[in-house]
Amino acid sequence: MGLKLENKVAVVTGGAKGIGLAISDKLAEDGATVYALGRSTNMELDSKHNIIYKQCDVSDLESVTNTFNEIQKEAGSIDILVNNAGITKDNLILRMSESDFDDVISINLKGVFNTCKVVSRFMLSQKQGRIINIGSIVGTTGNAGQSNYAASKAGLIGFTKSLAKELAARNILVNLIAPGYVLTDMTGKLTEDQVNAFKNNIPLKRAAEPSDISDVVAFFASNESRYITGQVLHVDGGLAI
Ligand SMILES: NC(=O)c1ccc[n+]([C@@H]2O[C@H](COP(=O)([O-])OP(=O)(O)OC[C@H]3O[C@@H](n4cnc5c(N)ncnc54)[C@H](O)[C@@H]3O)[C@@H](O)[C@H]2O)c1
Repeated sequence: MGLKLENKVAVVTGGAKGIGLAISDKLAEDGATVYALGRSTNMELDSKHNIIYKQCDVSDLESVTNTFNEIQKEAGSIDILVNNAGITKDNLILRMSESDFDDVISINLKGVFNTCKVVSRFMLSQKQGRIINIGSIVGTTGNAGQSNYAASKAGLIGFTKSLAKELAARNILVNLIAPGYVLTDMTGKLTEDQVNAFKNNIPLKRAAEPSDISDVVAFFASNESRYITGQVLHVDGGLAI
């Protein structure tokens, strides 16, 4: 039997770092040809990563259109899209600037609109595809100091469910994974007290490793999840129960 994702082409936004890199590696290990997108012009990935890197700013529709057209031409199809790119600009509402709000929405939410708009054209004509959005439990629970981030991730839930209904007739499945607390640079900014507070509230009593998330992405990319669409799956060690 071949690998689960043999002959599939996957695009992972923010796919050269943190959770995104774990997702790119896992999909490549399962046999997919993987394109990782990031904002840096010269991202040098170690040769042990079997990933093709391309510069693309997801918040810029023109950049997304050009990059996806290039990949479609090079690879012949785009079968799996993982919308993982995301940023935080945390602050309490009185101190949050307008640009802190706009920047987070334009990458975390509008960026997903941009990639889905462009990729759906290819997936509709292929009559198959998988779109996996990376949200956050904060999109459901909310979090003080993260009103911009929580709004962007909550917006992704409505977006995911709407697109799932819109694209289901062409066998394009759209789901969202909501991680809890994962060890990456994004959470590296937290103080020791904040980290301990998080860990004490996780029923499984540990933070997630990026691979805890990428294994679930691989499931949503595979044939095993063929009858699941429009779902929000918390992968959080029980944090949001
Ligand atoms: N780390 C956590 O605890 C946690 C929890 C819940 C959800 N998430 C979500 O998981 C995803 C990945 O988070 P992470 O912790 O790996 O973060 P990270 O900061 O380590 O990586 C984020 C990636 O997004 C890319 N990116 C940012 N802006 C971009 C843009 N405009 N265009 C293209 N790429 C861009 C960055 O280059 C980077 O590769 C994010 O969507 C985040 O919101 C993370």
